[in-house]
Amino acid sequence: MSTVDWTADANDALTLSLVRAKEDKQVLGDEETYEEFHPAFTYPIYGEDEKIYGYQDLVIDLRFASGSLAQYLSVRYAEKLDASTTVDNVEGILKEFIPPDYDTDEEAFLSRVEEDAASFRPIGKLIHSYTRPAPSTSESTSATSEAVEFEVYHVIATWKDPGFREYHRRMQLFILLYIEAGSYINEDDDAWEFSVLSRKRQSGTETYHFIGYSSLYNFYCFPEKLRMRLSQFVIIPPYQRHGHGSELYHAIYNYVLSRPSLSELTVEDPAEAFEDLRDRNDLKMLLANEQFMQESFGGEMVSHSGGKVRKPKSRARATPMGASSGTVKGKGKMGPPVDKAWAEKWRTELKIAGRQFQRLVEMLILMHLD
Ligand code: ACO
Repeated sequence: MSTVDWTADANDALTLSLVRAKEDKQVLGDEETYEEFHPAFTYPIYGEDEKIYGYQDLVIDLRFASGSLAQYLSVRYAEKLDASTTVDNVEGILKEFIPPDYDTDEEAFLSRVEEDAASFRPIGKLIHSYTRPAPSTSESTSATSEAVEFEVYHVIATWKDPGFREYHRRMQLFILLYIEAGSYINEDDDAWEFSVLSRKRQSGTETYHFIGYSSLYNFYCFPEKLRMRLSQFVIIPPYQRHGHGSELYHAIYNYVLSRPSLSELTVEDPAEAFEDLRDRNDLKMLLANEQFMQESFGGEMVSHSGGKVRKPKSRARATPMGASSGTVKGKGKMGPPVDKAWAEKWRTELKIAGRQFQRLVEMLILMHLD
């Protein structure tokens, strides 16, 4: 006799999607109004083993309006065990982690998506924008959408920006779902700032669609400055691996550079993928800084081919860059040994945290061994 398994994998069951307004779909030629994706982690919500007991073919359908992130929740299953004490209360548990104003009526949610699309604008101060060719979805192949550009708005916001607190309450779930050991932040603390990316679409009216965000914390730094600590950073899956993480990091770094009150940018407990992104972008920035490179290696730089920086994986496995894509002649402050006072001067000027700058210096030395 076969036994029925009443246990569902919470990461598979929880299905996320971003819903766009109808006009976006028609004008831009998209086949779909939303894309589905799944969380990387659900243990903060459904427990360590990420299992939900008591259902068959369980689907936790959590949709977000792609701009305002207004939510819709529907829990569906083929069968539910009739044992109220042991069966997990799927909605009751998730409810603790999302704002209470989510819709459970699909029609009401779809009307809200339409209304929000017409009225929602990124909250905060625009500090940067960039364009990308449209990704290779139906939209880039559609005859109606050849001119579609991927324009991204990057804003900086605080709790003081009207509507931001509510908007943040809707986006913070992504921290639990995608950052290991991520947790909700204290809303009563005024030292937080936020950096949010939204995609702008021109479909008759302008509409804006959430891509990802970072929460930044201002620490006091003796004697009269602040140190900005990048605390949480997420690009949602449909937009990953298109350079948006790099753009967001770069814009945050430039923001820190541009503000005299900030002494440096630090990162809280970076995940490996983030460390990689940071290293790649910091190295690219240093390699593009002619004066720094000139002083570092003293000689004439032969330009590196291509725009993509590959950092050496480790000391042992590093391929000397001079051998394949660039050569530096002569000897500069980078030594070895590195001129420490000179390095500290640059580190302070570039507002890079001490340990990170040291890592970058080591990577540059490895890359430029002749
Ligand atoms: N087409 C294809 N690949 C591209 C493109 C493109 N147009 N542009 C960049 N890439 C590649 C990059 O070269 C890089 O490749 P590599 O990993 O092989 O070196 C990769 O895509 C990632 O670079 P980006 O696209 O700039 O970064 P992304 O937008 O994917 O964001 C991030 C990276 C933030 C780690 C994202 O995957 C994410 O949010 N993950 C889940 C949450 C997370 O781990 N956050 C960090 C926690 S640490 C902290 O919060 C402090």
